Amino acid sequence: MNRMMGYAIFLAAVSALALLLTACSPSASAQRGQELFDLHCASCHEDPPPDLKKQPPKLEGLFQAKYLPSGAPATDQQVRKTVIEGLRTMPAFDQRLSDQDLNDLLAYLHTLH
Ligand code: HEC
Repeated sequence: MNRMMGYAIFLAAVSALALLLTACSPSASAQRGQELFDLHCASCHEDPPPDLKKQPPKLEGLFQAKYLPSGAPATDQQVRKTVIEGLRTMPAFDQRLSDQDLNDLLAYLHTLH
């Protein structure tokens, strides 16, 4: 009986840990970020309408370069600011994305090489 209980507790602990790891892992965040990207960003940054006043830059390798296309430093903070406030013809997303959304989006953008 005691051994069974111990085993049950051990199993419960292992599955709780596994669940925690999945929920917190960067890849789960990046995966959610990709969904947000497809929903909010891809229509311009992946497949831009030809009549846009300014063609949006491709975002692959965004964080590998030292500077963003605008010349601003390629940091998380700067990209966050761009998405929250918008940039010239790029719309602001402050009303549409939560802090967690932004974290997930950033995690996804970091996976683009
Ligand atoms: C309506 C079209 C449109 C949408 C939607 C859009 N963008 Fe943009 N984005 C642009 C344009 C245009 C620029 C170039 C702005 C400029 O330099 O004048 C840009 C620039 C950027 C830049 C480069 C900023 C810099 O400093 O050079 C980043 C990063 C970016 N967008 C990320 C995103 C993300 C993330 C999303 C989704 C949340 C998104 N954009 C949605 C049009 C769009």
